[in-house]
Amino acid sequence: MVATGKRQEIMKEVEKAFAISSSRLQQMVIDFHAEIRRGLAGESGSLKMLPAFVDCATGQEQGHFTGLDLGGTHFRVLLVALAGNGRSVVEQSSKFAIPKSVMEGEGAELFDFIARSILAFLGDHAVADRQMFLGFTFSFPVDQKTINSGRLVTWTKGFSASGVVGKDIVRMLADALRRYTVENIIISALVNDTVGTLLAKSYELKDCDVGVIFGTGTNACYRESTAAITKLPRQEKSNKNMIVNIEWGNFNLLPVNRYDDILDRESNNPGKQMMEKMISGMYLGPLVHTVLVELIQKTSIFSKNFVACVEAELLTSDISDFESDVSPEHEIIHSYLDSIEVKGSSIAERQIILQVCRQVTTRAARIAAAAVSKFSLTQSCDGSGTGAAIAAAVVQ
Ligand code: BGC
Repeated sequence: MVATGKRQEIMKEVEKAFAISSSRLQQMVIDFHAEIRRGLAGESGSLKMLPAFVDCATGQEQGHFTGLDLGGTHFRVLLVALAGNGRSVVEQSSKFAIPKSVMEGEGAELFDFIARSILAFLGDHAVADRQMFLGFTFSFPVDQKTINSGRLVTWTKGFSASGVVGKDIVRMLADALRRYTVENIIISALVNDTVGTLLAKSYELKDCDVGVIFGTGTNACYRESTAAITKLPRQEKSNKNMIVNIEWGNFNLLPVNRYDDILDRESNNPGKQMMEKMISGMYLGPLVHTVLVELIQKTSIFSKNFVACVEAELLTSDISDFESDVSPEHEIIHSYLDSIEVKGSSIAERQIILQVCRQVTTRAARIAAAAVSKFSLTQSCDGSGTGAAIAAAVVQ
């Protein structure tokens, strides 16, 4: 182990790499708004500003609708009842884990998996014969020209199923349903998860006009006046407002350090989703891991035992557990290290890990706060799943 002075010097370097000053964040907000304007005008930039072809819910929509929710590690199917007075009830729901091989395999297989899951859901809940209107929350950037169609712009969050980018998602789902002879489903809406979340909350809360997700990925949408969406064709401007999906995970005017660079290079979408890679659940653990690997390989700050850490996985949920542990000996870090065969760690070593976690998550929190700084937020329960069903209701 190195002497205390040297250790402090090394840690100062890491701290510097993740520091982001208030004035830099103010600049970020200015750049962010300039990118929003460019995106709305259809000019090139890092924010796609994708029109959603739907406005917020009124709260008066009524009936039973099916919602699908795809975008993280699980796929969900829901049956939602809308009472028409701002109240919605999830009557049935099923959750299916998406195997990694399906996320990264053939596109048609992914949609077959979805169709099979829907079939199982309809059978389990005895709704296989009822005609159902369905809303599909698809948590990726999709270029839409109508509410019930849209082409995938790019995969994010570790998905890479082949033959889907550039294709109409609704058509792919409809084809898969046909292959499984599911005939009672009408796909009436395709929405991003931020849009689903906004629709779900706007159903019960009239003034809600922003949807934000901090999950495996990150993104936001908001209600914009169609007059301000200058790239929108004139014939689409008959409604006063439309929701716009910002796709803010791709914002790229932020200072990038060498750890961000490594993480980005090793990701399956280099150069893309740069803000997402600094703040979202898929990346914070791996980013801390990237720093630790450099410290293990290039300094003597950790004992030799730590080499096992290089190949081990570090999840964002792990670093969240580390940071919430208040025990003076950092017991949770200790047992994590034990579990990956790094035996006999010292308290000083565990403190270094905690310090790195805090630097990475503090930067994430500061950037996330700057991104939402213009909005006031409230929590939406089960936003994107219920929201898919509400999307189907809004367009009926
Ligand atoms: C996707 C967005 C999505 C966000 C949150 C990002 O990776 O690009 O479309 O809204 O994750 O799920």
